[in-house]
Amino acid sequence: MNNVEVYSAGLLNKALDPATQPVAIRSFLRAETALLRELMPRGSRVVDFGCGMGRHLMGFADHIALGVGFDYEAASIAAAVKLAGAAHLYFFVADATAVPLTAAFDVAVCTTNTWGTMSDKSAVFDEMRRLSPRTGSRLMTVYAASSVPARSEWYANLGHQVLQATDQQIVAAGGFTSEHFTEERLRELLGPCELHPIGDIAYVAQC
Ligand SMILES: C[S@@+](CC[C@H](N)C(=O)[O-])C[C@H]1O[C@@H](n2cnc3c(N)ncnc32)[C@H](O)[C@@H]1O
Repeated sequence: MNNVEVYSAGLLNKALDPATQPVAIRSFLRAETALLRELMPRGSRVVDFGCGMGRHLMGFADHIALGVGFDYEAASIAAAVKLAGAAHLYFFVADATAVPLTAAFDVAVCTTNTWGTMSDKSAVFDEMRRLSPRTGSRLMTVYAASSVPARSEWYANLGHQVLQATDQQIVAAGGFTSEHFTEERLRELLGPCELHPIGDIAYVAQC
């Protein structure tokens, strides 16, 4: 299997169940949401790349003017539409490398290392820049290499035992791969950006 098939087999549902999450991952997820909210001006129009079941936009509903989320996994989008419950949140199925939107947003987010699981990272970042043109308005959460032990425990709890962890990625049973990043590599891939640490296991790259 590859990541597309692994997500389609229901990985996200299991991953978001707190019972599967090591303590370090639970605190990372909480801190990530708080930091993204802080970096997002009140009243922003926000587009979420690989939104899964839309938990971030739903969590920011009281803070943002418009939330548009998309994901290529139709079952996740169906869940998001059902859960949304706010008139200014919209969800649809799309691929992050070719987003069928033309409107400009104030902020584009790609959360919880979603970018680190995507195969064509530069195409996704190009789309984030196209839809949110202002410098500093692209917010991308990515893991640091120090996250490997916590993520290994988490992935094993999800049924994906880690087979190999290199400087750049974790390869887990069932065909799931997830990358992590040094500051140098992030700057190579994203160009100038501000890196906001989340504990010692992740960053929000603000580009
Ligand atoms: C790590 S999950 C995070 C989901 C959500 N952002 C969250 O934090 O709850 C990654 C998500 O990205 C989606 N995804 C991966 N590659 C994608 C692509 N090229 N286009 C759209 N969605 C993609 C997957 O289906 C999955 O829902």
